[in-house]
Amino acid sequence: MNSLGLCQQLLPCSVPRRSSGACACPVRDSSVANLYSSWSASLWSCQQHKGVKQHKRHKRAQGCAAGLPFREAQHESLITQDLDDDDEPDASSSDIARPEQAGLPDRIGFLGAGKMGEALIRGFLASGVSVPSNISASVRNAERQRALSMLGIQIFGSATDGGAAEIAANSDIIILGVKPHQMDAVLSSLAPHVTTNHLIISIAAGIRISSIENALPDATHVVRVMPNTPCLIREAASAYVLGNHATPLDASRTFALMRSVGVAVTVEERMMDAVTGLSGSGPAYVFLMVEALADGAVASGLPRDKALFLAAQTVAGASRMVLEGGGNGGIAHPALLKDHVTSPAGTTIAGLAELEACGVRSAFMRAVKAASRRSEELT
Ligand SMILES: NC(=O)c1ccc[n+]([C@@H]2O[C@H](COP(=O)([O-])OP(=O)(O)OC[C@H]3O[C@@H](n4cnc5c(N)ncnc54)[C@H](OP(=O)(O)O)[C@@H]3O)[C@@H](O)[C@H]2O)c1
Repeated sequence: MNSLGLCQQLLPCSVPRRSSGACACPVRDSSVANLYSSWSASLWSCQQHKGVKQHKRHKRAQGCAAGLPFREAQHESLITQDLDDDDEPDASSSDIARPEQAGLPDRIGFLGAGKMGEALIRGFLASGVSVPSNISASVRNAERQRALSMLGIQIFGSATDGGAAEIAANSDIIILGVKPHQMDAVLSSLAPHVTTNHLIISIAAGIRISSIENALPDATHVVRVMPNTPCLIREAASAYVLGNHATPLDASRTFALMRSVGVAVTVEERMMDAVTGLSGSGPAYVFLMVEALADGAVASGLPRDKALFLAAQTVAGASRMVLEGGGNGGIAHPALLKDHVTSPAGTTIAGLAELEACGVRSAFMRAVKAASRRSEELT
């Protein structure tokens, strides 16, 4: 039995466990920033875990970020970084560099910064993995230019009107943040300015790596990422795929960026449409679910504000139980958690029977499949 009083025979956990679970690092934000720093060759000037050899500090930075509390720690089989058991950071280290001190090297440029781009920018800034002076965005709409400049980042004009050249000149990592149908025009404008020193990260739904690589010079480093909007509050669920010329360092840089705003897993490109249908579009399904649950409570007599609050926290708490309930870093099977809280002839089974009668399970499956299909169509 685990701490939830649940049987541990939930999901077989394929996760190779570290000898100890959560990271003892006292400063989460800085540890992620340091992880990021550590993968850039020139960055060992960043001050962390003072008095330890450079190599050991590098290992600790990795261990620290990948060993951060539960959700990072427990998905080690899903992420790209393998850790040794002796990677634990020194709990006594109190001099981990602040992001500003770390001198984060990569300048990140966004080509298009709408809802998703802005969420990423805000997440990167909130996590400390980057600083405003290292971020720029090509934005064509004057109102958005004003809104984004409030974040202290550098703003350039439309990608197709000189902005792409400016972003290429001022960035190491270029994030393609436009809508899929806007991609061709943006790639054409970017292509003359891309070099093999750039890492191009596309977040566009449905756009294959091959079409990005074909539109850019030979050997361009490309990574395809599917994030989701909770990166705004550093709770994103992201998946990524490396292009043909992406290096292990590119993988590490991508991983560190996406990890700074949530969790990140690698998948094969053929799975990206399913990822898009699930986690890319998923926050909207959950918003709808929270709203509907609250509506039910209002119909049953609860005031709207309390109904929404309780509904949202119920979804968050139940999700947390799935993520944390498996013990030993595994994920609890939701069906077992459900059975555990369903008493004979009780209230919960009465509610569940209604959900089944309404086909809710099938509706969610169909929603994910429809969104995945739509992503395929965008190719
Ligand atoms: N939203 C999500 O939940 C989500 C999740 C995962 C992935 N994505 C992907 O993220 C990408 C962006 O989605 P989004 O929801 O953020 O869309 P969005 O809000 O429409 O953002 C796209 C932005 O790109 C700008 N843009 C278009 N052409 C431009 C150009 N030539 N130069 C500079 N900026 C340009 C648009 O400006 P205008 O306003 O002037 O058109 C807009 O601000 C899409 O490819 C989508 O598939 C989105």
